[in-house]
Order: sequence, then C-alpha cells, then structure tokens
Amino acid sequence: MNKLAAKAASALCTLGLSVALATSVYAAVDRDAIIDRIQPHGNICVAGDETCGTGAPAPVAAGASARSGEEVYNRFCAACHTTGILDSPKFGSGQMSARAAEKGLDGLLATSISGIGAMPPKGTCNDCSDEELEASIQYMIDAD
Ligand code: HEC
Repeated sequence: MNKLAAKAASALCTLGLSVALATSVYAAVDRDAIIDRIQPHGNICVAGDETCGTGAPAPVAAGASARSGEEVYNRFCAACHTTGILDSPKFGSGQMSARAAEKGLDGLLATSISGIGAMPPKGTCNDCSDEELEASIQYMIDAD
C-alpha cells in the first residue's frame, strides 16, 4: 500500500467511526425520546397500591358506574321475565305495571331485594345496587 492510499484508508476509517458513533448517540437519544413519547397519559391506581402515592384521589366505590335498567334486565331478569316463566310478571304484558300500581315502586324494590315466591333474592343479580334493581324494574314497567 502506498502512503497516499494508507492515509486515505485511515481517513475513511476515522470518518466511518465518527459516523457510527454519532449514529449510535443519536439513536440512543432518539430511543429515549420515543420511550418518553409512548408513555401512557395516566396510570391506573388501585386503592391500597403503594404506587398510588399519598396524593391519590379517594377510591371510587365498586360498582359506581351503575348499569342501566336495560343492561341489568337483559343480563339477569330476562331469563324469567321475558317469557313469564314460573308465573313471573311477563315483560311487555302489563303485569309488572299492574303490580307497580298495587305495591308501588318501593314495594316492588323491596320484594325484588328479598326475593318473592320462585324469584331468588335480587333476581340473581347479587352485586346489583338498589338503584340498579330499581332501574331494571322501571325498565320493565316502561315496557308494559
Ligand atoms: C329465576 C327467575 C326470575 C328471575 C331471574 C327474576 N325474576 Fe322477578 N320474578 C320471578 C317470579 C317467579 C316472580 C313472581 C313471584 C310471585 O309473585 O310469587 C317475579 C316477580 C318480580 C317482581 C314483582 C314483585 C312483587 O312484589 O310483586 C319484580 C319487581 C321482579 N320480579 C323484578 C325482577 C328483577 C328486577 C329481576 C332481575 C334483576 C328479576 N325479577 C329476575 C322470577 C324471576
């Protein structure tokens, strides 16, 4: 190898090395920026979790997002009330309205919670709040 070629080769080497270095530094910065950018906007904090810190807002009570009367009805009450099986007031037949006229919404809520005849307590919706049960009864009354 002559002198000129050796110099050129070494210059190329240096250039290559610095380009590689610059690229890797740039890539590292870039990766940090990307990781930063794809962070979630919020963190889910479960009550009692240490990561919540002290400034965490008061925990929301379970079931706070109440289900609608229709949702509860479809999931729990429809099994019996759609067909009127076991002599349950049949959906859309006027029978639930008749009972409401007789006992009032509060009366129906009370028997729904305790269970009545062949109907199990809370109509099988054990985690239903009173409000959710009432909404599902109202949904049946509205359909009559
Ligand atoms: C396993 C079947 C079954 C399921 C599930 C069921 N019911 Fe009933 N329900 C009945 C029967 C049977 C009656 C009639 C009981 C009687 O009068 O002896 C009834 C009656 C009622 C009454 C009238 C109570 C009264 O005092 O006259 C209401 C209100 C009612 N159900 C609401 C609901 C709601 C709300 C749900 C769902 C969350 C539900 N039921 C789920 C069987 C069921």
